[in-house]
Amino acid sequence: MVDIAIDRCSRIETERLVLRKWELADLDGLAEMNADPRVMEFYPSVLSRAESEKMLVRYMEAQQREGFCYSVIAKKRSGRFLGYCGLKVPGYQDHLSFGPCVEIGWRLLHSEWGKGFATESAQMWLGFGLETLKLNEIVSFTPVQNSRSEKVMQRLGMVRVEEFAHPMLEDGHRLKRQVLYKMTRQR
Ligand SMILES: CC(C)(COP(=O)(O)OP(=O)(O)OC[C@H]1O[C@@H](n2cnc3c(N)ncnc32)[C@H](O)[C@@H]1OP(=O)(O)O)[C@@H](O)C(=O)NCCC(=O)NCCS
Repeated sequence: MVDIAIDRCSRIETERLVLRKWELADLDGLAEMNADPRVMEFYPSVLSRAESEKMLVRYMEAQQREGFCYSVIAKKRSGRFLGYCGLKVPGYQDHLSFGPCVEIGWRLLHSEWGKGFATESAQMWLGFGLETLKLNEIVSFTPVQNSRSEKVMQRLGMVRVEEFAHPMLEDGHRLKRQVLYKMTRQR
């Protein structure tokens, strides 16, 4: 699967976007996005530049290991970094009642919200995962308060399965209750 994924998804174009592998030069855009409290409202905290750098290295390693990982969304014309979207194996999947699994996720610079970029990228990645990688299903989850993210799941035609308690967050954490959606190959 790793060979297939690396061969076929190193760079993909959609109508307005380029979806491509991470490069070290993406650190500036990633760090700007991860330091923005509006973008990070539904994550435990904003990230420092050093934390974003570690994340970038983790994603580049996962890309090599699994053949895919959340990938960069860039503007087709300018090549500008807009955010990320894609498939990922959660590092803590053994703790998830619905694991093992492949998830789909997204994060955009705040200036790029409201333009349809997350949905446009995710449509491509869902199709890639289900049709090319032949995954049986792809899941997505987000804190119950994150209605913008849940709306992306709904626009993609994913089906709401349940609410669950995120196993990696302590009891009482404001983000503990999460909503789980899934898309199956059959669907
Ligand atoms: C979650 C997130 C990616 C959603 O971004 P978004 O811009 O709302 O979603 P999309 O990119 O799919 O854009 C859809 C919106 O663009 C609008 N739009 C404008 N032009 C459009 C076009 N040409 N095509 C499609 N939609 C368009 C749609 O009407 C929709 O707006 P609405 O939700 O007000 O109805 C964004 O809020 C984000 O990065 N949040 C922080 C990170 C995060 O929480 N990630 C999820 C963690 S699980």
